[in-house]
Amino acid sequence: MDVKVFDNDTEAGKYAFELIKQGMDNGAKVLGLATGSTPVTMYQAMVNSDVDFSNMTSINLDEYVGMAPDNDQSYRYFMQSHLFDKKPFKETFVPNGLAKDPEEETKRYNKVIADHPIDIQVLGIGRNGHIGFNEPGSPFDAETRKVPLTQNTIDANARFFANKDDVPRYAYSMGIGSIMKSKKILLLAFGENKADAVQKMIEGPVTNDVPASILQKHPDVVVILDKASASKLS
Ligand code: F6R
Repeated sequence: MDVKVFDNDTEAGKYAFELIKQGMDNGAKVLGLATGSTPVTMYQAMVNSDVDFSNMTSINLDEYVGMAPDNDQSYRYFMQSHLFDKKPFKETFVPNGLAKDPEEETKRYNKVIADHPIDIQVLGIGRNGHIGFNEPGSPFDAETRKVPLTQNTIDANARFFANKDDVPRYAYSMGIGSIMKSKKILLLAFGENKADAVQKMIEGPVTNDVPASILQKHPDVVVILDKASASKLS
């Protein structure tokens, strides 16, 4: 794993975008993308650039089951407002939270990934070492599937919803097997509350208890950190 440490998340986000640009110059056509607070500075760098993404395809990691794309808590909404509405892509894929048949939806999404092999996958990491919604214990060979959210995640999300019953209980998530097939992976992590997970991912044993630790086995991973998230590395 190639580890890069920056003074702050703005510099780190710019660097991540530099790597994406280099990849595009070398023929990358498909980006795997994440939501959450971590990739925001990278999306800002993309939006503020004069780079044209209209020949690019994106495939997002996850979406809440039951969530409409125009719900401002949906990952589709996040992607439109942070990136796609400002920088049009050729095609953008996010799991369909409103799909009637979850099995069909996961099949459809796995076909999307098979038909558009991911050149560069952008990842954040959870405090428990999750990537996508692949929580501790997730199999390393899984494809996209419907997964229950942990109680922790449900409780953390409750603040965004007027009614506790509206908080999603399930998500569609790209599996770790699919993530590992990406040609290149950029994992970004910022803030002290990610320092333990980052340390375990890079220096700990490869174990399902820390899903991101499997990235040690991928041939081309760049870990992009700020000083706080790197503070527990030896
Ligand atoms: C988001 C995703 C998650 C987040 C992770 C970190 O699409 O798949 O794994 O990357 O939970 O979230 P933030 O960036 O909000 O700390």
